[in-house]
Amino acid sequence: MAEPQAKILIVDNEIQVVKRVEALLIPQNYEVITASGGEEALRLVQQKEPDLILLDVLMPVLDGFEVCRRLKDNAETCLIPVVFMTVLSDIGDRVKGLEAGADDFLTKPVHRDELLARIRTSLRLKQTIDHKVHALHRQLQEATERESQLFTNMSHELRTKLDVIIGFSEVLQEQTCGELNDEQEEYVNYILTGGNQMLDLVNGLLDLAKIEAGKMEVRLEELDLRSLLAESLELVQGGALAHDITLSLEIADDINTIVGDKRKVQQIVFNLLSNAVKFTPDQGTAGIKATETSEGVQIAVWDTGVGIAPEDQRRIFEEFQPLSDAHVTTTVGTGLGLALTKKFVELHGGTIELESRSGQGSTFTFSLPRSPLPASHVREQSRVL
Ligand SMILES: Nc1ncnc2c1ncn2[C@@H]1O[C@H](COP(=O)(O)OP(=O)(O)O)[C@@H](O)[C@H]1O
Ligand SMILES: [Mg+2]
Repeated sequence: MAEPQAKILIVDNEIQVVKRVEALLIPQNYEVITASGGEEALRLVQQKEPDLILLDVLMPVLDGFEVCRRLKDNAETCLIPVVFMTVLSDIGDRVKGLEAGADDFLTKPVHRDELLARIRTSLRLKQTIDHKVHALHRQLQEATERESQLFTNMSHELRTKLDVIIGFSEVLQEQTCGELNDEQEEYVNYILTGGNQMLDLVNGLLDLAKIEAGKMEVRLEELDLRSLLAESLELVQGGALAHDITLSLEIADDINTIVGDKRKVQQIVFNLLSNAVKFTPDQGTAGIKATETSEGVQIAVWDTGVGIAPEDQRRIFEEFQPLSDAHVTTTVGTGLGLALTKKFVELHGGTIELESRSGQGSTFTFSLPRSPLPASHVREQSRVL
């Protein structure tokens, strides 16, 4: 089977030069595309993905240096070899060309043998680089795959063991196999709380790992926002009552259904609400306000709690962020809630923002677009594990 021929883009505003070079390349079975200016060249590079570019220097509007600079600045095009066609005497042009990222030079008027030799050399070099890049990419994919598998197996093991710890602590706590004295009961409760927190942590880490490996599924369906928000409030009502915190729910009349992944939207709202209750002192207030926007809905979860210091607001959505405020150490949590919340919002194509003042309260506002992206892929990010 014949090798597919390399695709070469010739760029020159002088039509005779283009025609001449084209006439030299076609008998060699190269696939030739041509452009008479810089902008056309950049457009064709995107559309046709050439293997090599023969580029004139002097062109009106966008000259060869600028075209080369833009190609080399773009991660998608920086590996395409650029061979400048310059006039022999112009050393200055060659220096500028090198600075712009040129891979080689050809002297005008172009000589057939030199043209073909330089094209072959540049293409060979590109092929070697392409192979190396592909090999590295494959290695990276395999390593990510292995790491993700290892993590999945490990969390399965951890969960199985935690089930034993939690299960038997519950049996002891129920005192069905014998009475416990006060001290023993207190210690069993510690074991149970610790076990449950560890389970939350493992589940949270597993979710983050899945998102980062691009393996988190998003099942979009029509959701009744009113009942979803009311149910979420119900879940934190007990905690709020215990601290005499008043909860409120405000939904604009025109909002009925939204499209989203039910479990994830529930978790977003629950995470924000449970923080609102957790970080609001007794007799405070907290709530949800949902409004419609031109792009979809906007849901604000607010509280009149301790607030978040300005220096902490930037990194609040990162995993395990120790915050500067001392009250944090007195509360229990995984430190993953907001990181997961942000990722779940982003999986829907939405954004989340925070407005807060120390001592006065916080409002986390997230948006959900009317037609969320079926998040088929998640941007690659550095792993946190
Ligand atoms: N509504 C809020 N008011 C004040 N501080 C908050 C609020 N929500 C989050 N925080 C701060 O951000 C930290 C991280 O929150 P989160 O990621 O949910 O973890 P966790 O709740 O497990 O501590 C909390 O420990 C707290 O210090
Ligand atoms: Mg939390």
